[in-house]
Amino acid sequence: MTTRNLLLLPGDGIGPEAMAEVRKIIAYMNAEHDAGFTTDEGLVGGSAYDAHGAAISEGDMEKALAADAVLFGAVGGPKWDDVPYEVRPEAGLLRLRKDLKLFANLRPAICYPALAAASSLKAELVEGLDILIVRELTGGVYFGEPKEIVDLGNGQKRGIDTQVYDTYEIERIAGVAFELARTRGNRVCSMEKRNVMKSGVLWHQVVSDTHKRNYSDVALDHMLADAGGMQLVRAPKQFDVIVTDNLFGDMLSDVAAMLTGSLGMLPSASLGAPDARTGKRKALYEPVHGSAPDIAGKGIANPIAMIASFAMCLRYSFNLVREADNLEKAIAEVLDGGIRTGDIMAEGCRQVGTVEMGDAILAAFRRLSA
Ligand code: IPM
Ligand code: MG
Repeated sequence: MTTRNLLLLPGDGIGPEAMAEVRKIIAYMNAEHDAGFTTDEGLVGGSAYDAHGAAISEGDMEKALAADAVLFGAVGGPKWDDVPYEVRPEAGLLRLRKDLKLFANLRPAICYPALAAASSLKAELVEGLDILIVRELTGGVYFGEPKEIVDLGNGQKRGIDTQVYDTYEIERIAGVAFELARTRGNRVCSMEKRNVMKSGVLWHQVVSDTHKRNYSDVALDHMLADAGGMQLVRAPKQFDVIVTDNLFGDMLSDVAAMLTGSLGMLPSASLGAPDARTGKRKALYEPVHGSAPDIAGKGIANPIAMIASFAMCLRYSFNLVREADNLEKAIAEVLDGGIRTGDIMAEGCRQVGTVEMGDAILAAFRRLSA
């Protein structure tokens, strides 16, 4: 039997509650479908800081490097607002991305029909929305050096971050975007700021070259990232796949997320390059929402983004396509049935807590898998 090794890093805030609902799905797949998942657990973010004084321990980093896939909850909270910058909760996530070389971040923004009314845009603009943001995740201004605050000695300080991209980094993220476009609407829109940034000029050129060389069957457009942000809220359905750098991708994916009705709905996958020998990619799956400390521990958090992240894990790490489809369908069915957590509550629906939402999705998944 295949074994599939998962490392669960629930993290802080609502992370553990949301992860508990995924654990139930894993247990069901093991018990009734011999899925062969093994799970190990670790700490990340504030909880790791409390236990080890680091945002993730070396031991847990080793586990992450050895796992077939990492499931990540959320990190951060006011409790750790004043910890040193190097060990702040987010540092754990950034270290995982960097050390696992997870350069490709896939952020789908799908508007479930049942939630179109919850969008901040008019329902007709978002109904049926299905876009995929492919964000570069291990380069750009997040990691470029120098990155520092220097004392200028005249009472002034200077904060420096460096936006830097090499050809290979742009080529490989463009390749991921084109490959994924072929499995969907076959269109890619690349976003940068070549009108003010040298890295944008290079980005534009390398994406165009990569397209010409290997992917001329895919339709390619370019947009300046500010105009792209505007188009995303004006007419989001014009997009299929958007490929962009680390910082623009961070911002544009939050915008795209809100279009769908709730930040609590969206999953993401962060993938490395396929291993030359085994073809396997390192991978981490996480909900786009944060740790939501204000509602943590109350049993009211929406576990859908975490469960949908596990569906992405089934699809991208284990090629369990039917299972992934069924889990996504289960989520849509439960929403169609009018079951809602507080964040997506609407008139005439039934409000439930985290556990009940997880149970409802598991029941639908079980039915669809029969
Ligand atoms: C995200 C988050 C992270 C980022 C933070 C928590 C470091 O906003 O995954 O979008 O900026 O990448
Ligand atoms: Mg973000």
